[in-house]
Amino acid sequence: MAKLAIVTGGSRGLGRAMVLRLGKMGYNVVMNYVSDSSGKECEKNLKELREMGVDGLYIQADASSYEGCEKVVKAAVEKFGNKIDVLVNNAGVSNNAAFYQQNHKDYEWLVGVNLFSAMHMTRIVLPYMVEAEEGNIVNISSIGGLMGVANQADYCATKAAIIGFTRSLAVEYANKNIRVNAICPGMIDTDILKGVNQDELNALAAMIPLGRIGDSECIAGSMQYLIENDYTTGVYLTPNGGILMP
Ligand SMILES: NC(=O)c1ccc[n+]([C@@H]2O[C@H](COP(=O)([O-])OP(=O)(O)OC[C@H]3O[C@@H](n4cnc5c(N)ncnc54)[C@H](OP(=O)(O)O)[C@@H]3O)[C@@H](O)[C@H]2O)c1
Repeated sequence: MAKLAIVTGGSRGLGRAMVLRLGKMGYNVVMNYVSDSSGKECEKNLKELREMGVDGLYIQADASSYEGCEKVVKAAVEKFGNKIDVLVNNAGVSNNAAFYQQNHKDYEWLVGVNLFSAMHMTRIVLPYMVEAEEGNIVNISSIGGLMGVANQADYCATKAAIIGFTRSLAVEYANKNIRVNAICPGMIDTDILKGVNQDELNALAAMIPLGRIGDSECIAGSMQYLIENDYTTGVYLTPNGGILMP
């Protein structure tokens, strides 16, 4: 029987790449999204999953709210049963604005999506993993969690918090055979970079030792490694083209 994975923000970008990679790995995949326009993206992802011989479902639910996360997990369990093998906390947003110019509602929203979604989903999924004495959680952080970035103070704060969350959970649940790891991507070509203009993108690419913005497949590959390597917990991988070597 196929195992079950849940990916938040599975419609586009890194989420989509990880959904499809999980499908190739033989998982049924539950994905959520928030924007009305992304239902169609999820429909395409589901079609591709079914072509691979696995199944899935998608659900519109705001992952920044506890109720939204409950809705996702309830739908997953109703369709696929109560063994949840993998949780990927991926949903994330960026404000890309000087902190002193932000309204407090802007950063409250960002913290809700980037940090509370991971905490809520983990809180709701963990009892299933504890019961099964098995599970894998992969949290998507960022190189922004490891370094300072102008106009990203709110974003970097949440991504650093995700690393602390990951490490503590790894210690807390190791004796339940639940591994918790993180990925800190560098700059990867997805919609999250659409607020950055072409000149800035070129300047960024020129600063990267490998000379290019990354591809979402390398993040899917990192996720696969973390899921499959059963002696790895509490770490972060940082595929970033060499721009940061922590
Ligand atoms: N791309 C990069 O360079 C990069 C670098 C480092 C870290 N990351 C991290 O990687 C993750 C994915 O980023 P991405 O580049 O793939 O971004 P993206 O292309 O903008 O996709 C963001 C995803 O998050 C979902 N989402 C946003 N708000 C949500 C909410 N309230 N509830 C549920 N889902 C929500 C979006 O759903 P809709 O489609 O419905 O809007 C979409 O699926 C984020 O955590 C980001 O911080 C990205």
